[in-house]
Amino acid sequence: MNSTIINPVRHGLLMAVAALIFGALWAAYMGTHHEQLHGAFETQVATIQPTDKQHPMEEMSMKSMQMDHAHHSTLPTAHEHGQTHHETDTQVNEEQHSHSGNLAQDAMQRLLRGHIHFMGIGVLSAVLLLITAFTSLKNGWKKTLGFTFGLGALLYPPAWILMGFRTVELGPQAAEASVMWLFGPAVALLLISLLAVFVVLLVETFSLQKAVFIRQFFHSETGASS
Ligand code: HEM
Repeated sequence: MNSTIINPVRHGLLMAVAALIFGALWAAYMGTHHEQLHGAFETQVATIQPTDKQHPMEEMSMKSMQMDHAHHSTLPTAHEHGQTHHETDTQVNEEQHSHSGNLAQDAMQRLLRGHIHFMGIGVLSAVLLLITAFTSLKNGWKKTLGFTFGLGALLYPPAWILMGFRTVELGPQAAEASVMWLFGPAVALLLISLLAVFVVLLVETFSLQKAVFIRQFFHSETGASS
């Protein structure tokens, strides 16, 4: 088999395999430090409240908000632990909602999603880049896809990990918002890459490589090298 076929996407495959290695290492770290991590988040949850007590007026107003909230809902109110000093109204309080009812658990789940996505997107990127290598797309575009898939696979999962570490301190929604600078571009890279592979396969399926506007992206003859 001709090994040069993967040359245009080799850098992307390297990044995808690196994502798989990071994912495995992250899982190993989480597995061996589970109690330590969970314990640290629980401590963080517990220490957030005494800090609030340094502000008696603020605490009184928060209590009245909590009572008000309890009148309207029978759901657990554990999300209120996720408040920061910057949150001053009920609206913000409502937005810091915990899915599991326990912020430490939410944080752990987000750390775990870092592992899941390192592995999942690592495999996905490697498979789709291999498929790309066998298409009639020009090498320049294959190289571009190598970068978009590879960078997406390396950047998206750490966004979950960073979000996880910030979940208790900032609250779930604020933690999510705080990593959008990384989350947004990484998701965009992955979605653009997926869409591009879909379009390439579609074009080849219907033999549209020679159509106007499309032909500049494809080799004029299958098997050409540039
Ligand atoms: C462009 C690629 C992807 C994006 C944008 C994405 C996005 C997301 C998001 C936003 C969630 C959280 C949903 C929620 O809050 O309920 C999630 C969860 C999840 N994703 Fe992905 N994902 C992608 C690829 C993958 C792949 C390739 C896998 C394959 C392993 C995967 C496996 C999972 C699993 C198992 C969960 C649930 C985790 C849990 O319950 O904690 N994702 N994904």
